[in-house]
Amino acid sequence: MNFKFPLNSFENIQTPFYYYDMDLLNATLDSVSGEAGKYGFKVHYAVKANANDRILEAIRAKGFGADCVSGGEVKKSLECGFPSSSVVFAGVGKADWEINLGLDNDISCFNVESIPELEIIDELAAKKGKVARVALRLNPNVNANTHHYITTGLEENKFGINQWDLEKVVACLAGLKNVELEGIHFHIGSQITDLLSFKDLCLRVNELQKWFVSQRIFPKVVNVGGGLGINYEQPDEHSIPDFESFFKLFDEFLELMPGQELHFELGRSMVCQSGVLMSRVLYIKNGVQTHFAIVDAGMSDLIRPALYQAYHKIENLSSQLENEKYDVVGPICESSDCFGKAVDLPQTKRGDLIAIRSAGAYGEVMANQYNLRELPKAYYSDTI
Ligand code: LLP
Repeated sequence: MNFKFPLNSFENIQTPFYYYDMDLLNATLDSVSGEAGKYGFKVHYAVKANANDRILEAIRAKGFGADCVSGGEVKKSLECGFPSSSVVFAGVGKADWEINLGLDNDISCFNVESIPELEIIDELAAKKGKVARVALRLNPNVNANTHHYITTGLEENKFGINQWDLEKVVACLAGLKNVELEGIHFHIGSQITDLLSFKDLCLRVNELQKWFVSQRIFPKVVNVGGGLGINYEQPDEHSIPDFESFFKLFDEFLELMPGQELHFELGRSMVCQSGVLMSRVLYIKNGVQTHFAIVDAGMSDLIRPALYQAYHKIENLSSQLENEKYDVVGPICESSDCFGKAVDLPQTKRGDLIAIRSAGAYGEVMANQYNLRELPKAYYSDTI
């Protein structure tokens, strides 16, 4: 299924705005549940990828759980109707009020990243007379071969418990009365396109599981995080990511113990291709080697190109003339406010509609008001 642009409906809408193809979103979600369901795997949607109400509602309606990284995300997920028993809460720096929020709502699990955090959760749970379920986030030291800003599973990263601390953590856990071990958790990074990185993760998890067994510890859940990448170059040829191969690989290489559940926290792959950022050309200006197409969307609306040098396919939906090269830039007072350099676009003029593709994940949710710009609005294929 491909992304569909209702060009007529766009005519009277003020740009820039996000637009979501809900049919494509639902087809993507069905593919995730179908493929994960084959093996009984459970998926928590990583809310950080897109916390828009309509998107969350569509995801909740399909029965996915929620993976949260802040009190705000926990609150939002519960408000959106995700059952608390399907909410997991991760993050290296959970504040006391955030932990209390999770405890008050009996969320399913805290993914814990250090001994001091474990002790605080125990202390806060004790005050409430509760026992918190926790999963230990282990740093597997596996290379995800992705951008260094979104690599999380190497020893040098701030995330997870490193192997040399594992014995201490397990000893500490044994002495705490108000936390109980529910599982072990991993996440090696995001936008991972080489599935072999996930195979490396499986092999590492198998090794670590053996260590747990040797300690007579049997975690009920293994959570391998998210990270499946999408194809930014060819959004139409690959509008639904290859979930089949992804889940199959885990089934093939990860050795679960009897009765153990395998959980995932997918974000980007579930929502990315269903969203675009729409903008219009304000001015064409001649540069030294190329033309500048100055559009009305900026890095405040979609920060990924400026922050990670990320590629997003850019299309001119209004012109079918000969291609020329354009630097597509926004109006913000920073040279990094650039969506693409030397982009081939059909001859472009003021007023043309420009689509910045694959913006459904880490797009709207990372928008900000730099330069006191307004936050972009969102529109949906089923209500436009
Ligand atoms: N679980 C944990 C613990 C995570 O840290 C993340 C993402 C996910 C799951 C979901 O990963 P995904 O399936 O979406 O790759 N803003 C960046 C991406 C940051 C990802 C942070 N963690 C970007 O725009 O590329």
